[in-house]
Amino acid sequence: RKDLIGIEELSREEIEVVIETALSMKDILKRPIKKVPTLRGRTICTLFYEPSTRTRSSFELAAKYLSADTVSIATATSSVQKGESLLDTVKTLEAMGIDLFIIRHSASGVPSFIAKNIKAGVINAGDGMHEHPTQALLDVFTVYEKKGKLEGLKIAIVGDIFHSRVARSNIYAWNKLGSNVILCGPPTLIPPYIENLNVKVTYDLNEAIEDADIIYVLRLQLERQKRGLFPTLREYHMFYGINQERIKKAKKDVLVMHPGPMNRGVEISSEVADSLISVINEQVTNGVAVRMALLYLMLGGKSDENPV
Ligand code: CP
Repeated sequence: RKDLIGIEELSREEIEVVIETALSMKDILKRPIKKVPTLRGRTICTLFYEPSTRTRSSFELAAKYLSADTVSIATATSSVQKGESLLDTVKTLEAMGIDLFIIRHSASGVPSFIAKNIKAGVINAGDGMHEHPTQALLDVFTVYEKKGKLEGLKIAIVGDIFHSRVARSNIYAWNKLGSNVILCGPPTLIPPYIENLNVKVTYDLNEAIEDADIIYVLRLQLERQKRGLFPTLREYHMFYGINQERIKKAKKDVLVMHPGPMNRGVEISSEVADSLISVINEQVTNGVAVRMALLYLMLGGKSDENPV
């Protein structure tokens, strides 16, 4: 593939190839010197029009560990501020020899639009409320590593589903891999699009958590809430906050996940976030391995050869 815009367009087999390749990449991350020459001579540009800590830095590290060169454009200090258009910005950078762009934008559809207008590859690093495919890939990889399977698992996604590109990408990924997804949140934070997807919905947190293998907690996206139809933080925490007491209804070997950044004390208590059942830091580490796998596969590596 030249581009990765969303999980919706990926087949189950393509997701499995990413998981297998990421397992090899994880071996590189365990070495004392985490660098291989695989992508020497290739150039990657991160172009983020929205803030990021995890996605941007893990893509940059992934590229560096594979010996690719990286350019990072901070839009706040670029010629975007002088009115340069999105497409002119990308074409200018492409003319300098960029092979692959990693793009985050507040508007849904921007990475797809760019991908159709340039020869270089594009990875969607999160576009508005649409998709965040690399987050979903690192999430399924994390569960595969921990549980050894994905088929038949009960995945409870709890929180602000309405504004969440992570939720949409995860729903596509879990469905393709045979897991059973249940969504839970206040009615105002459940989007209408879920009617077309193979998921259950409940407003009752106990029902969502009961016998769950995975509790996937989402942040309340206050920055995207413009209409004032949501519960207050205090109400939200009271009815949907994940704490030690509530997770007792889940399976004994339940794992708690969160894509970050977390609002501690709102959607998740510190007690749970820092407990042994939390794999939140492992998700971050796996983000580097999965992004290494994607860079390798999209910049010329073959799924049936050893990348190392
Ligand atoms: N999960 C995630 O996308 O985090 P960042 O916004 O820090 O990249």
